[in-house]
Amino acid sequence: MNKKRVGILISGRGSNMRAIVEAASDPNYPVEVACVVSNRPDAGGLAYARSQNIAAQAIDHKNYKTREEFDSVVNDYLQSQSLDIIVCAGFMRIMTPVLIKPWEGRMINIHPSLLPLYRGLHTHERAIAAGDKEGGCTVHFVTAELDDGPIIAQARVPILKDDTAETLADRVLVEEHKLYPLALAKVALAKDI
Ligand code: GRF
Repeated sequence: MNKKRVGILISGRGSNMRAIVEAASDPNYPVEVACVVSNRPDAGGLAYARSQNIAAQAIDHKNYKTREEFDSVVNDYLQSQSLDIIVCAGFMRIMTPVLIKPWEGRMINIHPSLLPLYRGLHTHERAIAAGDKEGGCTVHFVTAELDDGPIIAQARVPILKDDTAETLADRVLVEEHKLYPLALAKVALAKDI
């Protein structure tokens, strides 16, 4: 099988990255995780990636004066890995075109809301405050606009009467872990990637 080489960008615990790495252990999954990059050297996800013998690179954003400088270093590393697809999985950085442009149509993100609702942060608090009956998550292609770009897949969960942002986040996260590997496989199998 001609597997697509994927690089995953993280900032923290990396549970979505882990769900993808676990999916990729199936010989029939169309993706091989080639590398993981974190802008935070202490991200828990880096240790997990290393434990799975995946190249895991910390590129600390604090070492760069501008977003563009940081993005350029990340892009150079990704280019050096001969990747087909970039997966943002809890990568908590606003990216500039320096990083987005070279991967247009081949970079995806997961966002914890039913886009186009609630771009940006605190999505679960905002959904509860609005009295929404449903929350969820969205996998979409990354474009220059934050949490915008063509939607690939969504999953929905109910919002219950006593939900807090934490309980709702936990319920959505369970769906994220199922949705992201499926959406990534769909992108990897698309013929023009
Ligand atoms: C997820 O909820 C994701 O949707 C959001 O940040 C969280 C990352 O979690 N963008 P993890 O690092 O994948 O565990």
